[in-house]
Amino acid sequence: MVGNQREPELKKISIDELRVGMYIHRLQHSWFNVPFYRRYVSSLRQIETLREYGIRDIEVDLSKSEVSEEAAPEELLARNEVEKELFKKYSGLPESPREERPAELLDPIGEFHRLNRDMREARKTVEKVQKNITLAMRDAGMGRRVSVDVTGDLVEEMIVSVLNNDRALLALSLVENYHNYTYQHSINVAILMLTFGKYFNWDRAELKVAGLGALLHDVGKVYVPEVILNKPSSLTEAEFKIIRKHPLWSEEILRVVPRMPPRSLEVASQHHERYNGNGYPRGLHDYRLTKLGSVAGLLDVFDALCADRPYRAAKTPNESLLFIYKEFKGQFTPGLFDQFVKCIGVYPVSSLVEIDTGEMGVVVSLNREDQLHPSVVLIQNAEGRALTKPIIADLRRRDPSTQKYLRNVVKVLRPAEHRVDVREVITNGVDE
Ligand SMILES: [Fe+2]
Ligand SMILES: [Fe+2]
Repeated sequence: MVGNQREPELKKISIDELRVGMYIHRLQHSWFNVPFYRRYVSSLRQIETLREYGIRDIEVDLSKSEVSEEAAPEELLARNEVEKELFKKYSGLPESPREERPAELLDPIGEFHRLNRDMREARKTVEKVQKNITLAMRDAGMGRRVSVDVTGDLVEEMIVSVLNNDRALLALSLVENYHNYTYQHSINVAILMLTFGKYFNWDRAELKVAGLGALLHDVGKVYVPEVILNKPSSLTEAEFKIIRKHPLWSEEILRVVPRMPPRSLEVASQHHERYNGNGYPRGLHDYRLTKLGSVAGLLDVFDALCADRPYRAAKTPNESLLFIYKEFKGQFTPGLFDQFVKCIGVYPVSSLVEIDTGEMGVVVSLNREDQLHPSVVLIQNAEGRALTKPIIADLRRRDPSTQKYLRNVVKVLRPAEHRVDVREVITNGVDE
């Protein structure tokens, strides 16, 4: 741990190896180029800012760094307001009164129409990607080279779609159901990667590298027998051994693809590595895991939890977040999960929610500055009757006299248990 009296333990690393908790001794760059700067790295945003200023190499002092402590992720999470609220909400503790301030109301109906329109556009892109990923996997399975040209163009198309309206593509990834899990999962991880990358302000080149890697991260599964991939019961040690090889096989397949960016391979080879070293295939840990590798690991787990598998039912996006929060402690780069929740929201688009008025609705828009009060399409009234004409409610609205919220989310519901087709709700228009 930290010890001011300890001898400095200097180590040169690249920006990709810089982690939350590290103490920067020196930037291998003119200090004057970075206007504001803290030596102790406490957030991923700080790392991204350094990257944006062109910093590539850094000298860190490991004697003052705190990156490998198990307690770090929770401690960092607790510093974040959003996460505190997420946690309180589910641990049943009363919430402290929020600071009252007038919310700047967007136009939720206009936003929803935009979501409908952009989802229709995004679906066309996703359908093309789906066709292409099917061909890429088939080629790889037959020992042919995967073509980066077509795949790369489609990733460009996805980038345009995400930059235009990240909610539309994200909503599609959360509600669409294709029959082939690996294809659907690959597309979803790519969408999540681009959405998260946009949140971090990655430039287009970085988005393309990350998106390509995400789209093809599981291509090595073509060498895993179907019976193992779809086995409904637990796997034997021998079967696990085979499964654990797929990131290496993905890396192998992508390495020979002409013009495949080398860093896209990191997404494929590291997506099952874990920050605490408990991952596979190489057992890489902390700073040995690259930025793209660690992000891919989190997104891969999130999407897998949101999907139906032969051995368990799908979780809602909100349940998946909570599950990761509780069960994956220490497995992801400190602060990363925290940023992910901020990016997709405590109640991600497409969540079916019960409201304290007795109404029920589907989240269609995230309000970043007030995550617990998104915009929802109401589909059931306070008496429990289905609304023939669904209406949009902005949960940030307050009673003008008391300043209390008019509606609050009580809990997230499972659509299947309430016979709600979320996909239909958010793709159908609403009356104004
Ligand atoms: Fe995988
Ligand atoms: Fe995966």
